[in-house]
Amino acid sequence: MHVFGLIGNPVGHSLSPPMHEAAYRELDMDAKYVTFEPDADAAEAAIEGAAALGVDGLNVTIPFKQDVLDFVEPDELAARIGAVNTVDFSTSPPRGYNTDAAGVSRAFDHHDVSLSGTDAVVVGAGGAARAVAFTLADACDRVHVANRTVEKAESLAADVRADAPATVTAGGLDSLDERVPAADVLVNATSVGMEEDATPVPADLLHGDLAVLDAVYTPVETRLLRDAAAAGATTVDGAWMLLFQGVVAFEHWTGRDAPVEAMNAELRAQL
Ligand code: ATR
Repeated sequence: MHVFGLIGNPVGHSLSPPMHEAAYRELDMDAKYVTFEPDADAAEAAIEGAAALGVDGLNVTIPFKQDVLDFVEPDELAARIGAVNTVDFSTSPPRGYNTDAAGVSRAFDHHDVSLSGTDAVVVGAGGAARAVAFTLADACDRVHVANRTVEKAESLAADVRADAPATVTAGGLDSLDERVPAADVLVNATSVGMEEDATPVPADLLHGDLAVLDAVYTPVETRLLRDAAAAGATTVDGAWMLLFQGVVAFEHWTGRDAPVEAMNAELRAQL
């Protein structure tokens, strides 16, 4: 039997177990997906222990995404981002990936949104925004990072700019007034809209030539996405981003195409 899982603290509410097990059922795989909650300082022991026990693959979430980087061989994107959310134990040392980042481009792809040559805006400068900004900067012509705390936007933009071909700029939330009307792609990577009917982007800035991804998935239909749909924009909800980070992890672990429809149906049923 294959064993996959998630390490984080806490992991009790994770939707990854049902989503991945739906894939195993669909493909008739003899596999299980289990959650582990090590102490916050136990990243190294957890990776070594999992390798010793023959675990096939692990997803990694808060607070371990940065620490795990030191105990695996990260691919180029995960190394640049400085965070790993997927470990593949089929090699020694195990390989580390950042499928939060790859999931963003797959989510846009799935909605026929091409990022190539576009002007993108990322709202937020925390961990989620970091994965989003690095991914967009590999594909888009221009990436603007807007955040409530301007210094954090500037620091993220400086990191991204270091190895990306895109023009990368930063500003406070007031910079959205100028950047969103000119943008093709907008991603909310703040927590604004989670469990509350609020949006980080004023509705009157949204327009029909925009593709909007909201990383928030509780609720699935956020105020930002409602405003974006009303403005005629293409909308991509946060469940797609969650889905595709799982899809890409599955594909790294198994070398097979993930059963996207079955995983999506289970995820949406859980949400
Ligand atoms: P995550 O790992 O999910 O990205 P995080 O690192 O805590 O979480 O980042 C949260 C992001 O949401 C930050 O960009 C934060 O802005 P600050 O850097 O100014 O704190 C943003 N955020 C949270 N609450 C916000 C609010 N009420 N208005 C605007 N931005 C907010």
